[in-house]
Amino acid sequence: MREILLVVFIWLHLTATIVWLGGIAFILLVTLPSVRQVLQDKAGGLMGEVTRRFTPMANLSILFLFLSGFSLMAINGNISADLLKGERGTAMLLKILLFLLMAGVHFYRGKVLAPRIAKTQSDGEKVRLQKLSLNLVWLNFGAGLAVLLLSAFVCVK
Ligand code: HEM
Repeated sequence: MREILLVVFIWLHLTATIVWLGGIAFILLVTLPSVRQVLQDKAGGLMGEVTRRFTPMANLSILFLFLSGFSLMAINGNISADLLKGERGTAMLLKILLFLLMAGVHFYRGKVLAPRIAKTQSDGEKVRLQKLSLNLVWLNFGAGLAVLLLSAFVCVK
């Protein structure tokens, strides 16, 4: 039974990882440059539609990463002070803190920045907020790569 649960939660964990981090990577490195190349100043409309479709998938991935992550910790018997013990514990704690940062950035962009960008009248302010929003996506991309490195470290320790 324990093995079946482990397989199910690792599967959920890995699937949520590729949807969220893979989605961020694809949008930043493929979709955005291509749309800007082809549509130039009309890129905003299509990118708005891409974001509208990706956001619910990212929200679900965040939820599943959180639930499957804590389930894996419970099954592996390390939901306790072990979190602060040794290299493995510290890496797991850092990973969870980075995950919380990434989730915070995701919801700040979606719930605070996006409405502000939509409401603002001044072009200068709109460009500034859009730049901030894009830089936050790059931050999440970097943090996601760091989480993957920490996950690999935890797996071999
Ligand atoms: C962006 C967020 C996250 C990513 C990309 C991520 C990625 C991964 C990956 C790739 C693995 C290796 C799976 C395997 O082959 O065994 C893993 C394992 C694991 N993750 Fe995450 N994870 C994330 C968030 C979390 C969170 C928030 C938690 C805890 C609440 C967590 C807890 C775990 C645990 C316990 C394992 C198994 C480690 C072991 O004992 O081998 N993860 N994660």
